[in-house]
Amino acid sequence: MKTMLNVALPKGRLGEKVYNMFAAAGFSCPELLEESRKLIFENEATGVRYFWVKPSDVAIYVERGAADIGVAGKDILLEYAPDVYELFDLNLGKCRMAVAAPSNFRDNPEKTLKVATKFSRIASDYYRRKGRDIDIIHLNGSIEIAPILGLSDVIVDIVETGTTLRENNLEVFETIVPISARLIANKSSFKFKSQQIERIVEQMRKSAEDMK
Ligand code: PRP
Repeated sequence: MKTMLNVALPKGRLGEKVYNMFAAAGFSCPELLEESRKLIFENEATGVRYFWVKPSDVAIYVERGAADIGVAGKDILLEYAPDVYELFDLNLGKCRMAVAAPSNFRDNPEKTLKVATKFSRIASDYYRRKGRDIDIIHLNGSIEIAPILGLSDVIVDIVETGTTLRENNLEVFETIVPISARLIANKSSFKFKSQQIERIVEQMRKSAEDMK
């Protein structure tokens, strides 16, 4: 029996684009795009088994070997620093990690800066490098509300189109790092399923070139 390659895909908008890249690279599984609550799909012919997981969980599946490869945002890789190989940049899901605040915000270096974020490690690392004293307020969502209600001075969050910031009267003050989706691999799978993984990477690089 053929050894299947387990692939964790991020559920949602990005996931469909990512799947289309795998399909264009020759690893299709059309059933996967059908409307259903099913989460695991196999294509014996090409030897891949896909599963949909929450985007922020992809790296956990891959790090622990439940998935051999997967696609995760650079934001998650920087925040959780999973012990995986980052194989290549899919150039999808492009956005940036940024510091934002109400437009009248002026930083007072004499005071500890209150920073609300889902990305505590990215924010701490950024301000440590700048030598700025901060107080992290870890939130799980709707971060944009924090400076409006006085919970924080600024936020560190993902900005894609900028609409969320605009509609909440916030603006970008600094860009921390550009973000995009990366193909990642479990370290031991990379050794033991190297042929399958290399084949997929090679095909995907080609289809990424074609999509440019
Ligand atoms: C992210 C981020 C912003 C929004 C930015 O949230 O936290 O709220 O997207 O996108 P925009 O610049 O295009 O408006 P997401 O939609 O991922 O939801 P989440 O807060 O549940 O993670």
